[in-house]
Amino acid sequence: MSVSDFEMVEAWGQVLSLSGIAAGQTVTILTSSDTHPQTLRTAIVAARAKGAIVNRLDLLPVNGGTSLSRDPLAYVGTTPLTGNKAALAMLKASDLVLDLMTLLFSAEQHEILSAGGRILLAVEPPEILLRMVPTEEDRRRVLAASRVLRAARQMRVTSAAGTDVTFALGEYPILEEYGFCERPGRWDHWPSGFLATWSNEGSAQGTIVLDRGDILLPQKSYVREPVTFTIRDGYVTDIAGGLDADLLRGYMESFGDPEVYAISHVGWGLQKRAHWSVLGLYDREATIGMDSRACAGNFLWSTGPNNEAGGTRDTACHIDIPMRNCTVMLDGDAVVRGGELVNDGLGNAA
Ligand SMILES: [Fe+2]
Repeated sequence: MSVSDFEMVEAWGQVLSLSGIAAGQTVTILTSSDTHPQTLRTAIVAARAKGAIVNRLDLLPVNGGTSLSRDPLAYVGTTPLTGNKAALAMLKASDLVLDLMTLLFSAEQHEILSAGGRILLAVEPPEILLRMVPTEEDRRRVLAASRVLRAARQMRVTSAAGTDVTFALGEYPILEEYGFCERPGRWDHWPSGFLATWSNEGSAQGTIVLDRGDILLPQKSYVREPVTFTIRDGYVTDIAGGLDADLLRGYMESFGDPEVYAISHVGWGLQKRAHWSVLGLYDREATIGMDSRACAGNFLWSTGPNNEAGGTRDTACHIDIPMRNCTVMLDGDAVVRGGELVNDGLGNAA
């Protein structure tokens, strides 16, 4: 259902306020062929209303002839900034980049952030952005849960469907997604509200069984029958099941890269305004599936790159796999039990 420009300007205003944008700062809006026009025009108005200097940088799309999917997260690593020094200089000179294009998992993104830049990705359709406008409470909840995750050295995930997998933790940083960028060097994604970190290199061991209704991204589908992943020494070594497993295997094999099978980020969702049912209500090209990534009490794991976390793996294939009904334990203590948050992330009963 459509939303008004007024509502979107108000929403952007909240995001920019939480990000500390004030008069005289430079906000550059990064766009490409798939940028939503309402998201763009309302971002411009809201940033100007804060007194910011507003630029728009429109870049040509890449990877379209290579990727098997139109999802912007389906083929990562090479971006319109690759080798584009002029564009990179403009973004590095900005106080805040509003990424309405999708600049994930690239060396250039890392370079901008390392120079103290801030990047906020926002590519979901306007009504999803509006439903999950970030709040200060979102930040507090994610940071409180992050303190628990940071202290942990092992994550174990189990489920009645047969999942039993462990990940050693501590080698990589924690990705705290709450939807705004209030400090230099920060990347975030509106909408979000979840935590992730990366399994220590080579440490993931066990079995993950997707149950009916769990989600594959960028396939943007609910699996129809169980899919069993065997995980050894940090890599998926076998994918077994019916049609969903066959299609996933074929998709991953198409990249011709053994690194596509590496375990990437692992974490859980904390956002109660995100809903599991949303994916079934949208055309596949209309959303990137943030509801399923952020949904409170999910377990979200993934395969592929770790360069976003400072690692060296930059494989182009990235599969995000949100699951329901799992128990997530950190050093033996559950943070999610049977798909429900053990507490609200602020220490209160859920
Ligand atoms: Fe991911």
